[in-house]
Amino acid sequence: MAAPPRPQPFDFHGVPMINIFTDDWDNIQNFKARPDDILIATYPKAGTTWVSYILDLLYFSDMGPDRQTSIPIHERVPFLEFCVPPIPSGTDLAEQLPTTPRLIKTHLPVQFVPKSFWEQDCRIIYVARNAKDNAVSYFHFDRMNSLQPEPGDWSTFLQEFMEGKRVFGSWYDHVNGWWEKKQTYSNLLYMFYEDLIEDSGREIERLCSFLGLSPSAEEKERVRVSVTFDSMKQNNMTNYSTIPLLNQTVSPFMRKGKVGDWKNHFTVSQNEQFDEDYKHKMKNPALKFRFEI
Ligand code: A3P
Repeated sequence: MAAPPRPQPFDFHGVPMINIFTDDWDNIQNFKARPDDILIATYPKAGTTWVSYILDLLYFSDMGPDRQTSIPIHERVPFLEFCVPPIPSGTDLAEQLPTTPRLIKTHLPVQFVPKSFWEQDCRIIYVARNAKDNAVSYFHFDRMNSLQPEPGDWSTFLQEFMEGKRVFGSWYDHVNGWWEKKQTYSNLLYMFYEDLIEDSGREIERLCSFLGLSPSAEEKERVRVSVTFDSMKQNNMTNYSTIPLLNQTVSPFMRKGKVGDWKNHFTVSQNEQFDEDYKHKMKNPALKFRFEI
């Protein structure tokens, strides 16, 4: 069967989007968050699946082996704005979740988040990743995911990324918008992919204290071991091998899982141009990213 044509992003309230993330808009905006819901928010490819799986294990690893062997992570943690019939939409899946707290993921820029999450004072975990590695990861993801717009070649993609033309818009606006929100909304934990790579045990600890969880040292260690890149790559419930639309022969979903892979993609001149542009867009000295560790 021929692959469906790739979509073209369109302007949606100032942000480039595609239909699969806007078709369910009324249900998304009217979504009824519950006070114990936990929202995991990221720009695409910043470590959403990693943090989703950590949370799933922290909350539900005692639910028996079936959950761990038969329910893929994207069903345990619905993707709020995803709408590709006949697959159940993110809002439907979230409403049908049998477990509490509900873990829900989103890539929406902060201004698009359904207002009930703020009204219910839900806990929100934002994960940010340095722009260069984020761009590289997004490029390879768009190569293997035919639901996404064509990535073009690397230099075209990078230019569009810098101009905020890829789906979900500008990385710069996304990370800054969520950072600003953190200044006034106290139930928001702002995490960095690089910190998770540096010391996942420490970051799991941070997550537990934000969530008010106190697992035993053995439980925490079990989670830490289960969420390494290699374990998640081997695990069919976390490596997205259950989704045929993703062509993992083009690029695996669990691709490299590194800080600094951008050095294998950026030319010297792309890097100079990127750094120059970055200085203009990232003016807040408090929001700092590490491009290597
Ligand atoms: P790379 O493409 O750089 O390898 P998301 O889940 O938001 O789509 O992000 C996917 C990115 O996170 C991919 O990055 C993937 O390899 C990385 N990732 C997922 N799980 C990881 C883990 N346990 N350790 C390190 N990186 C992980």
